[in-house]
Amino acid sequence: MQLTVDLRDHSLNRLPKSYIDSSIKGVLIKKEQIDAQISKLAVKINKDIPDAHCLVIMSGAMIFASDMIRKLKNCTYDSMQVKSYLGKQSSRLPKILKDPKVPLKGKDVLILEDIVDTGHTLKGIIDYCIDRGARSVKIAALLSKPSRREIDVKIDYCGFIIDDLFVIGYGLDYDEKYRNIPFIAVL
Ligand code: IMP
Ligand code: MG
Repeated sequence: MQLTVDLRDHSLNRLPKSYIDSSIKGVLIKKEQIDAQISKLAVKINKDIPDAHCLVIMSGAMIFASDMIRKLKNCTYDSMQVKSYLGKQSSRLPKILKDPKVPLKGKDVLILEDIVDTGHTLKGIIDYCIDRGARSVKIAALLSKPSRREIDVKIDYCGFIIDDLFVIGYGLDYDEKYRNIPFIAVL
């Protein structure tokens, strides 16, 4: 799904007051569109992975994961924390800040990620899961920017394909700011 920025979108008015004068350019994906897409993906995941062990990549995927996980019929979840971006730049060297608590050995792991950009972070996480003996590893990502890809990674469940834009909201940040905005906007 290809999306464009709609600067006339009135839902921008629902921004928290402190963000109204900030540099947000416009809404890219409305909350209702996100909800509908997560419901669709959840139907597929419920069919494909009846016993998923969700691995939530903090902090960006937290909001996506909390909406997704509650639509899954039978799953467990844990989190790990990876730092890959400095401001608007990908470091290309993802750093693990927190390991998952539950051992991944023998699990059907479903990685829940906010956005796949160059692919370096996801590749690092997939390798991490395989190295720790996961039985299978699948990926659900809310957003993907394929035009920025440097490493080929397969996204099994992708919410939205977007252009090369820096986006915030619904968990995504710019230097830890804007995560609490309930929709995806362009900075
Ligand atoms: P990659 O390693 O280049 O694929 O970067 C993936 C990570 O960078 C994501 O998990 C995000 O945390 C962050 N990221 C990439 N693009 C954006 C963006 O447009 N907004 C906010 N964070 C982003
Ligand atoms: Mg992330």
